[in-house]
Amino acid sequence: MCWLVDLVIRNAKVVDAHFSGMVDIAIEGGDIGALLSPGTACTAAQELDAQGCIVMPGLIDAHVHLREPGLTHKETIATGTAAAVCGGVTTVLDMPNTAPPVSSPQILKEKGKLVAGQAWADVGFYALLGPGMVHQLAALVEVGCVGFKLFLGPTTGSLPAPDWGELYEAFQILADLGVPVVVHAEDRAWVECGQAQVSNRGVFDYQSFLIQRPKLGEVSATQQICLLAGATGAPIHIAHVTSAEAVEVIGRAKSYGWSVTAETSPMYLFLSDEDYAAVGTAMKVLPPVRGRTDQAALWAALRNGIIDMIATDHAPHTPADKDQDLANAAAGAPGVETLLPLLLDAGRQGRCTLADITRWCAYEPARRFGFPNKGRIQPGGRADLVIIDTNEVWTIDQSQLHSKSCVTPFHGRRGVGKARYAILAGNIVMADGDLVGRPRGNWVKPTQGGRASHAR
Ligand code: DOR
Ligand code: ZN
Repeated sequence: MCWLVDLVIRNAKVVDAHFSGMVDIAIEGGDIGALLSPGTACTAAQELDAQGCIVMPGLIDAHVHLREPGLTHKETIATGTAAAVCGGVTTVLDMPNTAPPVSSPQILKEKGKLVAGQAWADVGFYALLGPGMVHQLAALVEVGCVGFKLFLGPTTGSLPAPDWGELYEAFQILADLGVPVVVHAEDRAWVECGQAQVSNRGVFDYQSFLIQRPKLGEVSATQQICLLAGATGAPIHIAHVTSAEAVEVIGRAKSYGWSVTAETSPMYLFLSDEDYAAVGTAMKVLPPVRGRTDQAALWAALRNGIIDMIATDHAPHTPADKDQDLANAAAGAPGVETLLPLLLDAGRQGRCTLADITRWCAYEPARRFGFPNKGRIQPGGRADLVIIDTNEVWTIDQSQLHSKSCVTPFHGRRGVGKARYAILAGNIVMADGDLVGRPRGNWVKPTQGGRASHAR
C-alpha cells in the first residue's frame, strides 16, 4: 500500500488502554489514518522515528485552572497549555472559577474566544453550577460546556452552591441532558465546624489544617451528592478524592448503578501529611492531602476502578500567594507538567502499568466528558499523541516548568520519562521541551451523545 499522508510516525511502540504493539502511524487531516505494519511503504510530507520511545494518546487532564480571564497574574491560557504540552497533555478541561465565573452562556462564549491563537493544547470549559442558574443550564450545554462544576465547600473564588432544592431541580435537568456535574465535595457546614475547632487550638500546624477541612466534610458531601445523583439520575463526577472513606461511599454508589465517576490527583497519590515538614505550603491544596492509609486506598481504588481517572487540579498561584503561613497561603499547585513523569516513576516501581496510565489519563476522561475521538490510538481517532522516551530519569526542577506558577510540591522528586514530542491533531506542538510553531489548540466541545454514562 502506498499513498501520501501528512505525517508518519515510524516504529511506534503504541500503548493505549486497549492495545499495545509496534506500528507505523499514518496521520492525515489531523486524524489517525491507519496503523500500519512497521516499514509499510507510504509517502509522508513529514516523518518521525519513534524508535526506542513509546507512543501514548495525548493525555487529557479533566481538572485544570487556567485562570483566564481575570486571574492572569497566576496563569494564562498560553502558559498553562504550554506547560500541558510539555508534559504530554494535549487536552485540558478548564474550571469556571475565573473572573467572572462562567455563569452564563455569554461568559462561556467570551471565554471560548480566548483560546484561538493562545492555546498550545485543546481546551474544553466547565460552566459553574451556582445559585440562580437553573434556567441557564440547557443554554450553557448548547454553547458547549463539558460539564458543570459545583463547589459544595468554600475554596478559591468563594463561589457558593445552590441550596438543595435548587440542586434537585438542576440535577433533574442535567439527568435529561446527560451532562455531568463535577463536584468539589466538602460540606460547608463541617468546614465551618472545623474552623471553629481550629480557632480554639492556638497554633495552625498541618494537623490544624486537617481539622479545619475534615474528612467528615468530604465524606458527608460525597454521600449527599451521590444520593442526589441516585435520586435524579444525573451523572456526577467527584473531583479530587482524598480519603479511604470517600472511596467507600463512591464504591457503594457505583454498585447501585448510579452514574458516578471520580478522580484523584497526583498530590494525593504521591504526598501524605508526613511530607508537610519538608515540602511546606507548596502542598497546601483543598481538600487537603491526608494520611498514608488514605494514599494507599486511593491507589487501590484506581486499580479496582472505583476511581476512574487521575486529573491534576492544576491550580497555579503566585509565589507570593504561596509564600505565607499555612493558614493564609493560597491553596493549589500546578500539576499538568509533572503528571506523566510522576506516573511513569510509579510505573517503574510496579505501582501501575503504562496501559493504566493511558486509561486513567486519556481514555476515561475522554469517555466521561464526551470526546470519543480522543484518548485512544485508533484509525479515525484524533491524532493527539505523545512520544515519550521512558529511559530518562531526571529530577523535577521547578525553575524548568512552563506554568507561571512554578511552586510545585514535587520539586526535587524523581521524574521518569521525557515527553519528546507532543502532537496535536497531527501537528507537532512540542519537541524536546520546546514549543514548536504556533499555538494550535482549539476550544473543544463534547460530542452530542458522546458521553458515556458509566452507570454499571
Ligand atoms: O486547592 C485548590 N485550589 N482547591 C480548589 O478547590 C480550588 C483550587 C484553586 O482554584 O486554586
Ligand atoms: Zn480545582
